[in-house]
Amino acid sequence: MLKEWTKTSWHDYPALQQPKWPDRQKYDQVLASLSTLPPLVFAGEIRELKKLLADAVAGRAFLLQGGDCSEEFAHCTAPNIRETLKVLLQMAVILTYAGGKPVVKVGRIAGQYAKPRSSDTEIVNGVEIPSYRGDMCNSAEPTPEARVPDPERMQKGYFLSAATLNLLRAFTRGGFAALHRVHAWNQEFVKQSPMGRSYERLANQISQALNFMEVIGISTDVPQLKQAHFFTSHEALFLGYEESLTREDSTTGGWYDCSAHMLWIGDRTRQLDGAHVEFLRGVLNPLGMKVGPQYETDDILSIIERLNPDNEPGRMTLITRFGAGKIDCCLPPLIRAVKRAGLNVLWCCDPMHANTFTAASGHKTRNFDDILSELRCFFELNWAEGTIPGGVHFELTGDNVTECIGGARQLADEQLSLNYLTTCDPRLNAEQSLEMAFQIAEMIRT
Ligand code: PEP
Ligand code: CO
Repeated sequence: MLKEWTKTSWHDYPALQQPKWPDRQKYDQVLASLSTLPPLVFAGEIRELKKLLADAVAGRAFLLQGGDCSEEFAHCTAPNIRETLKVLLQMAVILTYAGGKPVVKVGRIAGQYAKPRSSDTEIVNGVEIPSYRGDMCNSAEPTPEARVPDPERMQKGYFLSAATLNLLRAFTRGGFAALHRVHAWNQEFVKQSPMGRSYERLANQISQALNFMEVIGISTDVPQLKQAHFFTSHEALFLGYEESLTREDSTTGGWYDCSAHMLWIGDRTRQLDGAHVEFLRGVLNPLGMKVGPQYETDDILSIIERLNPDNEPGRMTLITRFGAGKIDCCLPPLIRAVKRAGLNVLWCCDPMHANTFTAASGHKTRNFDDILSELRCFFELNWAEGTIPGGVHFELTGDNVTECIGGARQLADEQLSLNYLTTCDPRLNAEQSLEMAFQIAEMIRT
C-alpha cells in the first residue's frame, strides 16, 4: 500500500540526479522563499492543456513540444524568446495545415534549467570537476568554482522563468501570434532559403484564405485567429524546486505543480519507487515520461498505473526516444503492452536523444537524417499497430546555430564549430526545424 501523497512525501524515496548543494541552510532558505512567491502558471491553464492533450490521444489534435535542451540564464533575452516562439509557431502552422487538426504548442521553455547527467564529474584539461547540471544548479564554465551548486540559482531560475513567461504571454495574447501575421514569423535569414520560400508559399495560402473570409463577410477579428495557446514544460528534476512551486488549487482542491503547465520525468529518473515518480503522482499536471531503449515493459506499465490510476486521457504522454536504429525493435512491443493493458497514453516521439554522437571535430551532434528516420518509423509503426502517433518532441532553437549535421544545406562536421552554442545537447536550427516540420507534414497529410 502506498502512503498518502503530500508535496513532501517524496522525501522518503531515493531521488536520483539531485545536485549536492553544499550549503543546506541556504538551500532551505531559497526554497522557503520560493514557496511564498506567486505561481508561474495557473491551475485553470493546466487543466486546459490536459483537455487538449486528451484530444490528441483521441487523434483530434497533435502535440508539438520543443525548445532548448537546456535554457541558459544569459540567453533569457527578448530576441531569443521571440525567435524560438516564431519557429514553433511556424512549425505549428505547417503541421496544422497538413494534418487538418489543431496543434498543441508546448515549449521546452520558461524553466528548462535543470539537467540530468550520465556522470557526476567530467575531466576538463586533465582535471576532474563536477558536471554541469543546468543553470539552476551551476555554471557551464569548466572550472571547479563555477561548478559548485548554488541554491540561489534556483531563485534566479524562477524569476527568469517568470520574465520569459511574461513575454510569451504578451506575444501570444497581444497580437504577435495572430494568424494575420503568419508571414512575419519567417525569419530574415531563413526567408531566402528553400525552406523559407516553401513557408512563404504556405503563408500566402493562409493569407488568401483569411482575406477570402473577410471579403465574404466572415469576421477574422476573433480570438481563435488573433491569439495562440502556448504552454510551457520542463523536466521535473530538482524536486525541492518543484515542491516549492506546488500549490493547492483554491477552486478545486487539487495539487498542481505551478512551475510549468506540463512536466516530464526523464529516462534516468523514472524509477517506480523513486522520488520523482512519488512526487509527480500527486500533482494534477499533464505528465510526460521519457522511455529509452533500456526499458522493461512491466516496469513502464506499473509506472503509468502509478502516475495515472484513473487512466485519464491527457494525463500521460509517453515520449519514446529509442534512436533510428532501435525504434523498430523497441516501440512495437511497448505499444502492444500498453494497448493490451488498456492504458490511455499519448504517443509522442523524441527523435533527438538517442541519436546523439560525437563528430570527428569532437562536437556532440545529431544527424538530420537519423532524426527524420526515427520519426518516420514512429509514424509507420503506430499506424501498423492501429495506435495514434500523437506528438513530436524536439530540441530546437530559433537561432542560426550549427549543432546538428545534415538537412537541406547539408551542414557538415567541419561546419559545426561555426556557431555551436549549446551547453548541453545539439539543437535543430530554425531552418532545420522548418524542414523537419515540412517532412512531418508529408507523413501526416490528410
Ligand atoms: C532531455 O530531454 O534533455 C533529456 C535529458 O532527455 P532523456 O531523459 O530522454 O535523456
Ligand atoms: Co537534451
